[in-house]
Amino acid sequence: MASASCLSLLVLLALASSAAAQLSSTFYDTSCPNALSTIKSAVTSAVNNEPRMGASLLRMHFHDCFVDGCDASVLLNDTSTFTGEQGAIPNRNSLRGFTVIDNIKAQVEAVCNRTVSCADILAVAARDSVVALGGPSWTVLLGRRDSTTASKANAESDLPGPSFDLANLTQAFANKGLNLTDMVALSGGHTIGQAQCRFFRDHIYNDTNINSTFASSLQANCPRASGSGDSSLAPLDTASPTSFNNDYFSNLLSRKGLLHSDQELFNGGSADGTVRSFASSASAFSSAFAAAMVKMGNISPKTGSQGQIRLTCSKVNS
Ligand code: HEM
Ligand SMILES: *[C@@H]1O[C@H](CO)[C@@H](O)[C@H](O)[C@H]1NC(C)=O
Ligand SMILES: *[C@@H]1O[C@H](CO)[C@@H](O)[C@H](O)[C@H]1NC(C)=O
Ligand SMILES: *[C@@H]1O[C@H](CO)[C@@H](O)[C@H](O)[C@H]1NC(C)=O
Ligand SMILES: *[C@@H]1O[C@H](CO)[C@@H](O)[C@H](O)[C@H]1NC(C)=O
Ligand SMILES: *[C@@H]1O[C@H](CO)[C@@H](O)[C@H](O)[C@H]1NC(C)=O
Ligand SMILES: *[C@@H]1O[C@H](CO)[C@@H](O)[C@H](O)[C@H]1NC(C)=O
Repeated sequence: MASASCLSLLVLLALASSAAAQLSSTFYDTSCPNALSTIKSAVTSAVNNEPRMGASLLRMHFHDCFVDGCDASVLLNDTSTFTGEQGAIPNRNSLRGFTVIDNIKAQVEAVCNRTVSCADILAVAARDSVVALGGPSWTVLLGRRDSTTASKANAESDLPGPSFDLANLTQAFANKGLNLTDMVALSGGHTIGQAQCRFFRDHIYNDTNINSTFASSLQANCPRASGSGDSSLAPLDTASPTSFNNDYFSNLLSRKGLLHSDQELFNGGSADGTVRSFASSASAFSSAFAAAMVKMGNISPKTGSQGQIRLTCSKVNS
């Protein structure tokens, strides 16, 4: 009897401590039953208006999660007390979608005041963007809270860059608890969206593991000399830039990765097998992508009484 109640106390304690740290798919079911439908209709209309916005919103969630966890730190403007992430090298003149998020937040505040975090809005908007462009769906876990600070330095140290080799990429993802399968699957996010010349210039002029016809066609809009055409765009998935599918992986098999880091995933190394399997099976890619998005969305969330629910995503509550 004594040991039985002791055991149940331990079970209760274990449940209580994990509940505090864990996200849940039903988090807003009673506090804001219209949260998810409000976000979905706003994302769908933004993506219908401009398909690339789906790519931009997916990337925003990735850049949030890799820097101090999924806590909407990426959305904070600079203040007198911290220099935020928007000016960090991977984000500056590159990350987009802030206005769309501000607009979604305003709509969500109008249905449920001070209830839904900006970090959860980013996670749901990423899923709804993928769905709007024809990709897989998954259940988004919720209950993240928003940070009260942001870090340019951490954005520059923790986000992978386009010049990374396979070892660098593997390390950057392992640092966030994501393995090789997750990394290859998540890189499939490059099945949508665009990149600027300044990020792929070295790859199309200096690398040898690139289809030469593909390289020449890109060079037309991306001159060798830096400074000219730096922000000219090219699709990350040359075959189907606004459809979320597995063409990204087939492109890698024919040496048509746009970024150096993309082609590193299929260059005779440890990721080759996974790239081949995702190129040959859209469903294998879809399920691995969905699983890896849930895993990425679980990176160090702030829960319980940590952080806050921001009223405006670009600033800490006053
Ligand atoms: C593997 C390491 C990664 C590197 C080195 C990388 C790098 C980049 C770069 C350089 C761009 C172009 C930015 C610009 O030209 O302004 C880009 C765009 C993009 N990235 Fe990644 N990325 C990586 C992983 C990911 C992941 C994990 C996701 C999402 C799951 C993602 C989603 C996107 C999307 C959707 C775009 C297009 C954004 C738009 O059109 O606005 N990337 N990435
Ligand atoms: C939400 O509540 C706060 C104070 O509790 C108030 O300042 C703000 O204007 C409210 N927002 C909306 C959209 O009602
Ligand atoms: C990338 O990997 C190389 C070794 O392959 C290492 O020297 C370098 O420090 C790494 N760079 C980053 C940014 O991780
Ligand atoms: C990566 O992790 C997932 C579970 O999160 C697992 O199913 C998969 O086998 C792992 N892959 C590798 C290469 O370790
Ligand atoms: C290519 O490599 C050369 C020699 O290392 C370097 O000077 C140049 O900046 C690189 N990039 C391009 C776009 O040519
Ligand atoms: C390179 O791309 C061109 C144009 O898409 C294609 O015809 C050719 O087969 C590709 N070469 C290789 C080696 O994949
Ligand atoms: C944050 O910066 C953006 C872009 O400069 C601006 O539009 C927005 O109003 C700012 N947010 C706040 C709360 O000042």
